Amino acid sequence: MNEQASQRGKWGSKLGFVLAASGSAIGLGNIWRFPTVTGENGGAAFVIVYLACVLLIGVPIMLAEFTIGRRAKSDPMGAFRKLAPGTLWEFVGALGVLTGLMILSYYSVVAGWTLKYITLTLTGALQGADPDSIRTTFTDFIQSGQSVTSYHLLFMILTVWIVTGGIQGGIERAAKVLMPLLLVLLLLLVLRSVTLPGAREGLLFYLKPDFGKITFSVVLAALGQAFFSLSLGMGAMITYGSYISEDDDLVSSAVSVSCFDSLIAILAGFAIFPALFSVPGLSPNAGPGLIFVVLPNIFNAIPLGQLFGSLFFVLLAIAALTSSISLLEVTVAYAIDQLHWKRTKAALVMGLIVFLLGVPSALSNGAVPAFSGILDVVDRYFGSISLVLGALLLSLFVGWKWGIPSALEEIGQSRAKFGLAAVWGFLLRYACPIAIVTILVNILIG
Ligand code: TRP
Repeated sequence: MNEQASQRGKWGSKLGFVLAASGSAIGLGNIWRFPTVTGENGGAAFVIVYLACVLLIGVPIMLAEFTIGRRAKSDPMGAFRKLAPGTLWEFVGALGVLTGLMILSYYSVVAGWTLKYITLTLTGALQGADPDSIRTTFTDFIQSGQSVTSYHLLFMILTVWIVTGGIQGGIERAAKVLMPLLLVLLLLLVLRSVTLPGAREGLLFYLKPDFGKITFSVVLAALGQAFFSLSLGMGAMITYGSYISEDDDLVSSAVSVSCFDSLIAILAGFAIFPALFSVPGLSPNAGPGLIFVVLPNIFNAIPLGQLFGSLFFVLLAIAALTSSISLLEVTVAYAIDQLHWKRTKAALVMGLIVFLLGVPSALSNGAVPAFSGILDVVDRYFGSISLVLGALLLSLFVGWKWGIPSALEEIGQSRAKFGLAAVWGFLLRYACPIAIVTILVNILIG
């Protein structure tokens, strides 16, 4: 292996890859952002639009990213440069690197909140507290700029530390053990939540669609959430794809990752909404604090609640970590491949930049009035719109520039049969771009 290749690394096996990609996909997006956005966009009808977005747009785009990545074996920017030399497509990769830095900047802040909640649950600070004081604990905490910034820093240190460990050593090993555990714990929370008194109202909110609530901005939120949750639209899956071996089947990998990710998001909804409606005074459109003010109430309503509560926030922090490493990995792969930096230097420098970019978000809940609400603004522009734009450009690239035949040739390397190849080509060439442009245009003129 030459030096550059050994700086890049490779996955140990297909299962290792699927689990690591799931580790990237499953994170705060599923457990924090999905219930939050669902609550803000009216519940069940949003969930249906969301699942349609995952199936018809998310899965095809994920396959496209894996394919580009494995063919080019490079960071997103280098990938476009290799597949379309001397064109402006390179900037799609650049947009991805920028988006990665920006998403991680506030992602790490929210991940820091989960670190704080590990300490709160471990020390039993929320044990037996009434819903009101659970809520005040949260609002007091996020208003304290210093504390939030310290946890943000701590989380970035953890992220950089794992990314310096390389691909197999760090990411793969962690993902293998911990993701199944998170699933089990989530199932337990769902069981308790749906049996709480008053759960019925929450289930109705979550399951009984009112299609009158669907507007273009609801559809944009659903599409943005699908990309965010599946880690699409900025090259994370191009980067992960660049470490896949030629023998592995890209199609089944994309399907498995998407199913696993959606399952966790849907379960998170079942854990949150019934519990939410069983607590008086809480409303589903509570915004980013939703899970932090709802979940402690469930832990107070179960035997061994303190134990389960601590375990839950530990697992959530780890799920966030397996996602944040993929966000940082995009920028690190860029620095290794394009700037020829060593992995350690790349991770340290990029990590520092992300930390600094995240400080305004850490101070956005009252600590510094000028930054008020900035976390939500950065989330909307980079965590949603920028991903949707990135996915649009990506589908145009594979559909019209690089070409479906070349992509199918790369997919065919594993010799697994791809029965829906024609459907995939149609979705990428026509359905995805038209759907995305329609939504964006309607929002701009609306
Ligand atoms: N998908 C992750 C989550 O749900 C977040 C994430 C990781 C991400 N990598 C990404 C989002 C790349 C967008 C693009 O928590």
